Amino acid sequence: MKNFINIIDIPSKNLKKIIIDAKKRKNKRKNLKALDIDKDAPLKGKMLIQMFEKSSLRTRLSFYLAIKQLGGSALTLKPDELHLTKGGESLADTAKILSTYGNAFMLRTDSDQKLEEFKKHITIPIINGLSPSSHPTQVLSDVFTVEEIKKRPISKLQICWIGDANNNVINSLIEASVKFSFKLNIGCPKKYEPNKKLLIWAKKNKGKINVFNDCKKAATDSDVVFTDKVISMNDKVNKSRKLKYFKNFKINSKVMNCAKKNAIFLHCLPRGSEVSDDVFLGKQSKVWDQALNRVYVQKSILLYCFGKLR
Ligand code: CP
Ligand code: NVA
Repeated sequence: MKNFINIIDIPSKNLKKIIIDAKKRKNKRKNLKALDIDKDAPLKGKMLIQMFEKSSLRTRLSFYLAIKQLGGSALTLKPDELHLTKGGESLADTAKILSTYGNAFMLRTDSDQKLEEFKKHITIPIINGLSPSSHPTQVLSDVFTVEEIKKRPISKLQICWIGDANNNVINSLIEASVKFSFKLNIGCPKKYEPNKKLLIWAKKNKGKINVFNDCKKAATDSDVVFTDKVISMNDKVNKSRKLKYFKNFKINSKVMNCAKKNAIFLHCLPRGSEVSDDVFLGKQSKVWDQALNRVYVQKSILLYCFGKLR
């Protein structure tokens, strides 16, 4: 049994195995419908319990389809319907019950510490479905999307991130850039540069990361341009003040024109004002493929957690 909490903790070879498995499984499903079960039904009889302490559309749907396609079943808990959040039951007892009834637990939470606490007490695999510091299932799926569309290993590509460089998605992307050895150029305001400790870790581990306070410089010659909302769900900031820092970091066609001609645009969604409509809805945008690929990669993440990766 394995957990999937942060990309930084997972050996490169296992992350690469997940991607390879997802490619194989996706190929085999070409003529199947959303709820058709994979032939080998490797998680038949297994139940994934998912709990969202914050809003979710994609993660909720994609994990549901992922476990279903593997032959298992999903149950979604609302935290405000549990005793835990009302103080009537301890986290340890809740974790014990989840482990007794279910076979894997996926948690989207406002607290990294809570994930760690669950990890201590739970005896089934636990998956991070987004925390304040990390969004690992999204980013691993994004690596898959990039390789699928560009038809090359991501290590041969130049990736660019423009926007808030100190949030959960970019943290996981920085971790992935080291694990998959790709060049990552980051364009962000000085005040929203990446977490220093993470950059030091990346540097120590042969990371190829450059930080620019100019979005065009960051985008120059990139194969992929990523962004995310300026205001994240856990952001307890003065929103209009934060948005002002990003007025020169909106992705529009001028920024995209600095990237390679055949560059693609990716966004994990939901979106805000960080990208213009013409880019978001334009030819270079692959955001809908990106969203759907969550299903395929999360299937292989589940198999990894169950020790069933082929
Ligand atoms: N990208 C993503 O995680 O979307 P949701 O918040 O809708 O799950
Ligand atoms: N950084 C965003 C990602 C949403 C999927 C957030 O945490 O709100």
